[in-house]
Amino acid sequence: MSPSASPSPFLDACRRLPVEHVPVWFMRQAGRSLPEYRALREKHPRFSAVIEEPELAAEVTLQPVRRHGVDAAILFSDIMTPVQAIVPGVDIHPGKGPVVDEPFRTKADLDRLRPIEPEADLPYVLEAVRLVRAELPPEVALIGFAGAPFTVASYLVEGGKSNDYRHTKALMYGAPDVWAELAGRLADITLATLRAQVAAGAQAVQLFDSWAGNLSAADYARHVLPFSTRIFEGLADLDVPRIHFGVGTMHLVDQLSAAGADVIGIDWRTPMADARRIVGPDKAVQGNLDPTVLFAPVEVIEERTRAVLADAGPEPGHVFNLGWGVLPDTDADALTRVVDIVHGA
Ligand code: CP3
Repeated sequence: MSPSASPSPFLDACRRLPVEHVPVWFMRQAGRSLPEYRALREKHPRFSAVIEEPELAAEVTLQPVRRHGVDAAILFSDIMTPVQAIVPGVDIHPGKGPVVDEPFRTKADLDRLRPIEPEADLPYVLEAVRLVRAELPPEVALIGFAGAPFTVASYLVEGGKSNDYRHTKALMYGAPDVWAELAGRLADITLATLRAQVAAGAQAVQLFDSWAGNLSAADYARHVLPFSTRIFEGLADLDVPRIHFGVGTMHLVDQLSAAGADVIGIDWRTPMADARRIVGPDKAVQGNLDPTVLFAPVEVIEERTRAVLADAGPEPGHVFNLGWGVLPDTDADALTRVVDIVHGA
């Protein structure tokens, strides 16, 4: 009999159950590394139009599963999709990222951020979840996701991407009550969105706090941790693994873990063995091959992939991933090679 408890090695590993092979998927696995994605985008140049058309979003979600044989699909969407649905003037520009025409800087701006009703505001997202789940074989899990309050707030407050997060931090430090209200509203939007994705068929959820690593440990503890904790607590009654990920978070791994997720995503700078020690035996870890390694010769890819597996150790509870998203011009064959190495190890 297989030692696995479910048909999905990914879900088993998230629950720290023994698996026959270490499961693997890649953040940003659906996207510009795939020729089939680029071909589809030529016919649909507006990025958000792909997200808003369930058949297209489902097709793009499934592309990396077909090509690479990964153990999980991640819904094709964006961390800005929920706020884009309720705030006018939010869009995503390829090459640039999210752009917000009227940045959120004052208490009065909060009036523009009403609660979300996922069935009414994001019907296309939930339909895409249902379409993907109907297509996937039982051994491939579907991951839903949303953006964490700090990372989504950074786009709303800065108006776009930022190197220093000066307006976001100025709001946090100078008007902590307004910051708390903004982060609280975003936490509620994210929680409602993730719960709706699970109700529609997502079998795990990942909270992306990509830019949280730019905060000190003390600022994270005071201004971010309570809100991300609220999200994980609000998901606790659903029987799905909860993943928490941020970039440049070596100094925050303990807090990412304390927020309540079941699986902690580790960026490539943090050794997996250290991460295991910090999160302890009751949580799984996900990661963490440096995405730029995929541009190196195949022997190097092999060696570094095996090094991540060795560093994470033989104990159950490791989901293989990159230490951040797939870079746009990555060779798709290099990704397939990593899947084969991980599955064969
Ligand atoms: O395959 C998957 O991982 C699912 C799809 C996914 C996208 N965005 C599609 C996308 C996921 C999980 C995201 C999350 C996301 N979006 C994050 C968190 C993950 C991370 O990488 O840290 C962030 C910070 C965003 C905001 C955002 N959206 C950025 C920074 C960009 C990149 C701009 C660019 O063109 O380089 C986007 C656009 C975006 N979202 C693309 C994709 C595939 C690229 C645009 C395109 O394909 O035309």
